[in-house]
Amino acid sequence: MHVRNVSMKSVRLVSQTMSTSVYLETFGCQMNVADSERADVRLRAAGFDLSTSPEDADVILFNTCSVRERAAHKVFTRIGEVRRQRIGSEPVVGVMGCVAQLEGDSIFDASPLVNIVAGTRATDRLPQLISRALQGERRVLDLDERAEGEVWDVPASDRTSKHVAFVPIIEGCNKFCTYCIVPYSRGREKSRLASDIVAEIHALRSYGYKEIHLIGQNVNSYRPKTDDGLEGFKGATPFCRLLRAVAATGMERIKFTTSFPRDFHPDIVAAIDENENLCEWIHLPVQSGSDRILRAMRRGHTAGDYLKRIDAVKNARRKMSITSDIIVGFPGETREDFGKTVKLVEQVGYDGLYIFKYSERRGTPAAKLDDDVSREEKAARFAQLEEAQRKLQQKIYDRYVGRVLDVLVERPSSKSERDMTGHSTCHKVVNFPGDVSMLGKVKSVRVTAAKQNSLYGEIISAP
Ligand code: 5AD
Ligand code: SF4
Repeated sequence: MHVRNVSMKSVRLVSQTMSTSVYLETFGCQMNVADSERADVRLRAAGFDLSTSPEDADVILFNTCSVRERAAHKVFTRIGEVRRQRIGSEPVVGVMGCVAQLEGDSIFDASPLVNIVAGTRATDRLPQLISRALQGERRVLDLDERAEGEVWDVPASDRTSKHVAFVPIIEGCNKFCTYCIVPYSRGREKSRLASDIVAEIHALRSYGYKEIHLIGQNVNSYRPKTDDGLEGFKGATPFCRLLRAVAATGMERIKFTTSFPRDFHPDIVAAIDENENLCEWIHLPVQSGSDRILRAMRRGHTAGDYLKRIDAVKNARRKMSITSDIIVGFPGETREDFGKTVKLVEQVGYDGLYIFKYSERRGTPAAKLDDDVSREEKAARFAQLEEAQRKLQQKIYDRYVGRVLDVLVERPSSKSERDMTGHSTCHKVVNFPGDVSMLGKVKSVRVTAAKQNSLYGEIISAP
């Protein structure tokens, strides 16, 4: 699972006479971004008009994240802001996604402004749910499963992300790491058929997309009901076969996230070595370097098991980027346990690290443990690990100076008007002088400087 930036999005498209406008704001991981994209498409198909601001929309939807306490609170803060903004008018307000799935109808009591609570599998039913609320139903609740045979596709022409397309391959999680709320908010693992995934990628490629991300809480646990679309592709696991099937579509750049260590078969590395369009980047969260803590987290692997997987990645023919997630301050984590995490981080030499302070989630097994690492100690461990990673990462980034990377131009840089920004195949952020005519193209960029979390360079390919 992968939870990073908070993105806000909204799109104005098809309008109809007397149409109802819907504003949709998204928090959390790529799965939520993908769900919102699908919600957009379904709503437009049903004749709704999508609005860019909550100020005049008839319906305001929040697609929420609950992975850590702070993320879960955000939606209630936003509802409070909307309430103040909209005094005198009464928009329909809906909470979707993980907070909706977990909190259910208690949200109606906590926030009387909310009329719709739609869980993580209700996306395709949103048009009907909104219609019911518009007709005056005060509490519209849908925490049900997806309909059998539900179509996951988002047509290439209707996507809001124009240069990189997220393609869900599996949703849910069966791992039940003791700190994690995801198995409760997203349900059990369900894999899409490979034939559907491959068809979607062919369509994206024909439309001009250069990069896709196969996404899921644990992509390498991919296990579809049938072999459809995988016939003829070799591989040690269904995920390895899927990688080869997806590579065969000819899509220029293919990335996947997130991988789970226990299911990380070395054949994944072989598939990347064999196929240039499978990008050389692996996101493999370890969470802790202490076996005692890994056991308490019920991760199902030791630090040694994890390092064996990393060795396989490091022994690949192609040089791979490796990134990870770490939780500091899990209940019972001693300074010694934490020291082992720092050591593991130094040993691996990550290209990027996402560090989180443990956040107790109600209903998870770890919530029964005493959250005994103080707030100050969590902050101190966070800062220490961040500093260790900063130094290690600088060295790794410095080695890129002088190298040429293929960068997909994704957007103008937020820092400088004359620069564009994008990612390399090894998933580094690269900035370089350029203009909007380059958007969506892959450019060869020679790296001239290494910054803290990005590289800077100059285009060497012809425009
Ligand atoms: N507290 C802190 N971090 C968490 N994560 C998941 N659950 C929690 C929690 N309760 C982190 C893990 C995961 C990432 C997406 O979020 O590191 O890999
Ligand atoms: Fe959460 Fe663990 Fe599942 Fe990842 S593998 S989503 S951390 S339970």
